[in-house]
Amino acid sequence: MFKVSPLRKRQFLGGIIGLVLGVSLFYILTLDATEGYVSISPMNTGHNELSCFACHADAKGNLMQQVQSNISHAFGARDESVDFGTQDVTVNNCLQCHDRPNDRHPTYRFSEPRFKDAIKHIDATTCITCHSEHHEERVSVENINYCMNCHQDLKVENDPLDISHVQLIAKKAWNTCIQCHDFHGNHTYQVPEHLSDTIPMQKIQAYFEGGEDPYGMVKKYIALSQEEWLKTIENSK
Ligand code: HEC
Ligand code: HEC
Ligand code: HEC
Ligand code: HEC
Ligand code: HEC
Repeated sequence: MFKVSPLRKRQFLGGIIGLVLGVSLFYILTLDATEGYVSISPMNTGHNELSCFACHADAKGNLMQQVQSNISHAFGARDESVDFGTQDVTVNNCLQCHDRPNDRHPTYRFSEPRFKDAIKHIDATTCITCHSEHHEERVSVENINYCMNCHQDLKVENDPLDISHVQLIAKKAWNTCIQCHDFHGNHTYQVPEHLSDTIPMQKIQAYFEGGEDPYGMVKKYIALSQEEWLKTIENSK
């Protein structure tokens, strides 16, 4: 009869345990629900259904390595925890789902040389300037008076306002702009003509933080869902 040495037996048992652990770890890590494991803070308005790889292109492939090195970090084996994904999230990631041909402030436009100085103050060439992710918000721009960087010389012909645009600008009333105008022009609504009919600043603030939309619910474009987005990627292969 052939005999199994105690050493062999232990190696065999160790192999089985290793395999079981490995498989379950792999299984856990590939579950979408556990993506929250490496998450930092809640998603922005409308993004709850998105997987990490919708914006962090290479996140899925690297998830295992990242968790591994973050674990070694926790045990003091590494000096710094690694970045989540190696590629930065760019405007192109956002446009894959949010490309809107009617945007009155399209990001590509502001690469023109004449906006060079304005862009130093408000970088309108990328979404993240105003929509930083992972802060459970809708709009994160610090000061909403940023219209001043491009609309200083605005004159509206046959201005319908009770206090004209020229007067508002002379008074530096740059906070009033967003109280009448949405930024992207994606809402269909009646723009007010009287200063007494403007949207109160508290409602704008609540909207920025994820609350009710004060410009109404009628929109020209809604974003692609993750499923629709995946389909466009499949089709372009
Ligand atoms: C809608 C796009 C989007 C999705 C989906 C998304 N992220 Fe992010 N993430 C960003 C952006 C943009 C940044 C850069 C920080 C900022 O907003 O300025 C970022 C930054 C990070 C950072 C900070 C580290 C770094 O490299 O800057 C971590 C960690 C992170 N994301 C993890 C995740 C995880 C985990 C998920 C899935 C639960 C996820 N993200 C899903 C857009 C997204
Ligand atoms: C995989 C598709 C996808 C990607 C990528 C994506 N989004 Fe979204 N986003 C959505 C969906 C779906 C919604 C919810 C539906 C809607 O409001 O259009 C949404 C909602 C939003 C909203 C809130 C809209 C509202 O209802 O008020 C903002 C702001 C936004 N996204 C900005 C961004 C930015 C900035 C990026 C890039 C960092 C980005 N999104 C990347 C799909 C995406
Ligand atoms: C200079 C600041 C700024 C930049 C850059 C910017 N946004 Fe916005 N965005 C805003 C403000 C302010 C609002 C709220 C007013 C409104 O609803 O238009 C908003 C609202 C939105 C909304 C919700 C309302 C709607 O239009 O459906 C979406 C979606 C959105 N932004 C997506 C994007 C995407 C995608 C990019 C980049 C391609 C981007 N934004 C770039 C300031 C900005
Ligand atoms: C980085 C420069 C820039 C910033 C910042 C900016 N705009 Fe504009 N805006 C433009 C340009 C360029 C146009 C197009 C005007 C043209 O074609 O002559 C425009 C057009 C508009 C229009 C007219 C759209 C139409 O089709 O009639 C409105 C309304 C508007 N902006 C409001 C705002 C408001 C409100 C803010 C601040 C929340 C703002 N803008 C910030 C550059 C900017
Ligand atoms: C009381 C509401 C109200 C306020 C406040 C307001 N606007 Fe307007 N704005 C309007 C209306 C109404 C129009 C004309 C109809 C339209 O274009 O929607 C208009 C038109 C415009 C246009 C288009 C001009 C053109 O020739 O087509 C721009 C750009 C603009 N506003 C920017 C601004 C900026 C920048 C501010 C802040 C200084 C501002 N608005 C403040 C209501 C307002």
